[in-house]
Amino acid sequence: MIQVLGIPGSLRLGSYNRGLLYAAQELAPGDLELELFELHEIPPYNADVDAAGDPEPVAAFKDAIRAADALLIATPEYNRGVPGVVKNAIDWASRPPLGSPLTGKLVGLMGASTGMGGTARAQQQIAEALSFPRATVLDEPRVLVPSAYERFDDDIRLVDPATRQAIASLLEALLVALGARPSVEAA
Ligand code: FNR
Repeated sequence: MIQVLGIPGSLRLGSYNRGLLYAAQELAPGDLELELFELHEIPPYNADVDAAGDPEPVAAFKDAIRAADALLIATPEYNRGVPGVVKNAIDWASRPPLGSPLTGKLVGLMGASTGMGGTARAQQQIAEALSFPRATVLDEPRVLVPSAYERFDDDIRLVDPATRQAIASLLEALLVALGARPSVEAA
């Protein structure tokens, strides 16, 4: 069984981005398990606190990353960039530099925004941040969801068929990258 850790980049209850991860759970093939890790309890990064030892929520976050075969981050875009809560979580997980749980970890990116850009800039910034701890971020495919309010119902269930298909493709790409599916060349 392939374990994927889904990370909602929004803390709000009715988040479209958490909705993307719920859709991914529905769409996951039988050999892929997707668990969510919420960032509410991750404190603001402080190197003094870091030096004294990881606070419990940070330790739990790092353990969850270590235990996962891949990460799936669903991020909003705030002011043309990555939300602070997502960057903050990456900063914690990037430490220590020579023992980060992010090193070598496969990461898929998706994101929903109410604007037209579909979180492209936020995703690019996340990919750059993850390059320092040497995570492996999938360039293709990425799921970009503009005008999110048109694609979810009132219960934040993803109802747009094209977006559901895009998420299914991203999950398959993660499985290929993990060697759990033949690559296109081998197939
Ligand atoms: C936004 N939003 C937004 N959207 C976008 O497409 N580009 C942007 O730069 C921004 N900037 C931005 C800043 C701040 C502080 C907020 C609160 C919102 C709108 C954003 O896409 C919308 O609120 C989404 O619904 C947020 O994602 P969740 O919370 O639904 O997952």
